[in-house]
Amino acid sequence: MFPDGIPKGFRTMSIVDFPIRGEACSVLQARDASALSGIKQPGVAAAIWQREPAPEFVNWISGLPPDKLPKLRSLVGADALEGCIQAACSLAGTPAGPERDMLAGDIAALGYLMSEIMETPLLHVRLEAVSTNACRRFHVDNMTARMLCTYRGAGTQLTQPGTEAAPLSVSQGSAVLLRGRCWPGEEQTVLLHRSPPIEGTGETRLLAVIDPAFDYKPEGRLH
Ligand SMILES: [Fe+2]
Repeated sequence: MFPDGIPKGFRTMSIVDFPIRGEACSVLQARDASALSGIKQPGVAAAIWQREPAPEFVNWISGLPPDKLPKLRSLVGADALEGCIQAACSLAGTPAGPERDMLAGDIAALGYLMSEIMETPLLHVRLEAVSTNACRRFHVDNMTARMLCTYRGAGTQLTQPGTEAAPLSVSQGSAVLLRGRCWPGEEQTVLLHRSPPIEGTGETRLLAVIDPAFDYKPEGRLH
């Protein structure tokens, strides 16, 4: 796990911007896991659990050859996710050790939170090594909700319509939960996001994408 663990109570919380009635465009940020469940608050389109990964973890994951990064695309129960990640690591030749255990344990913890928030026992989890711009256009996902965490490299970018030139970047190791177009209720989600533009930089990101299984579409795109 990251050094912060899951601290009790909100240590910091901020709301970026205020919603227009009937629209969800605010970003809720806090250094506490419970920030993520704030996605259900009126007007909130994205909730970020702000975290700083341990330096030894950053050094370890940054130094891995890209072909040793685990890849996964699977429907999996939240309680089976940690073993699933470990198996993907073994398949990719990701070296065993405390940092690999941190990675698997952390993704499993995020999966548990996603399962609780979205009230589903089954998740669709993708773990991808990304070296292109993936999805470079700002967009809203055509689904209920999606959790993203970039364990290596630059994080997802968020913006309100009209401010695309100065997006908010989710930091490495922070988890962001985004509402999609299919979020229930009357509010329309207008907050946009995209993958950071890294093509040509030589950077390889490691991105975890956790969706509720009821949104699963076999042809779904990663972004
Ligand atoms: Fe997306």
